[in-house]
Amino acid sequence: MKIGHISDLHILKLDDPRPWEFLNKRLVGGANLLFKRSKSHSSRVVREALRHLDEDCGVDHIAITGDLSNLALASEFAEAADILAEIPFSEERVSVIPGNHDYYTRETEASRRFERYFAPYMQSDMPGYRTESGYPFCQFKNDDIAIIGMKSAVPTPWFFATGEVDRMQLEATAALLDDPKVRDRFKIVMIHHHLVPFEHSRVEYSRRLINADEVLEMLRWHDVDLAIHGHNHHFATIEVPHLRGKGTLRICEAGSTSIGSYEDPYFGGKFNVYHIEDGRLLKIETHLFESHDVGFVQWKEQAFEQQIAAS
Ligand SMILES: [Fe+2]
Ligand SMILES: [Fe+2]
Repeated sequence: MKIGHISDLHILKLDDPRPWEFLNKRLVGGANLLFKRSKSHSSRVVREALRHLDEDCGVDHIAITGDLSNLALASEFAEAADILAEIPFSEERVSVIPGNHDYYTRETEASRRFERYFAPYMQSDMPGYRTESGYPFCQFKNDDIAIIGMKSAVPTPWFFATGEVDRMQLEATAALLDDPKVRDRFKIVMIHHHLVPFEHSRVEYSRRLINADEVLEMLRWHDVDLAIHGHNHHFATIEVPHLRGKGTLRICEAGSTSIGSYEDPYFGGKFNVYHIEDGRLLKIETHLFESHDVGFVQWKEQAFEQQIAAS
C-alpha cells in the first residue's frame, strides 16, 4: 500500500471575513499572513500535489497532518474541503487532523468548525476510543494497517503556536494501541506538532509540543511504526527504538506542501509517499515542487532493507 503525506496547506481565502473576526489573535496572524504567507503558500501547488499523488504516484491513501488553513476562517476551510473533494473517492482515501492554525482562536475550537468541515475524513473504525474532543480516531487500511489521528492543536495566546495532547486523549490512544484489533497492525500515528525539538527554530519554546516527551514515550512503548507530522515546514526523518520490542519508530515530516517559492529545498513544497508491504515500511519517497511548468519531482528516496539473520 502506498500512503501519501501532505501537510501545512495554509489555504488562503479571505472572502469577506466579518470584521469582528479580526478583533482577536487574527489581527496579528492576519497581518503576518498578508505580508509573508500569501507570497509563499499556494493552493495551486496543493492541487498539483494531489494530482501528482493520485495520477502519477498511484497512492491508495492520503494523510494530511494539519494546518489546512491560516486563520481557521470558514472561507479557508470551505476552500480546503473543496480541494479535497476533487480527489476521486476522497472520503475513503483521505485522513485529516487539525493543526494549530485550524484552532486559531477559542471560538473556532468551541464551535468545532474544523471537525464540521472535515468529518468525512475523520471517521473511526474504533469509535469507542474517541474522547470528548473527538480524538483519537482510527482507520483500518487493508488487513494490516491502522492509521490513528491525534489532536495536538490547541488555541494559544498571541505569538504562541504550542501544542498539547490532553491526558484523556493520551490515555485513550495508549488503550487503542493496545487493543487486539490494532496491536498487530502496522501502526501509523498522525499528529500535527513535532515530537523532538526542531533545531532550526529560534523560537522553539513558543511553538513546541508541550508534552512531547510524554507523547513520544507512549508511542515508543506501544510499538508505533510510523509517526507523521507537520508544523515545522521542514523535511526530516528520525528513527528511535521502541521501548519494549526490537523495532523502531520512524518520525517523518515532508514539509509544507503548498510552498511554491523557496531557496532551501528542505523548506520547499513537498510531500512523502510511504510504501508499506506485509507490515513493513519498505521505502519513503519525497517529492519536491519545482515549478508550475514542471510540477513535483522526486527529490529523495530512502529504502529500508529487510534484516536477514546470518545463518
Ligand atoms: Fe504550518
Ligand atoms: Fe503548525
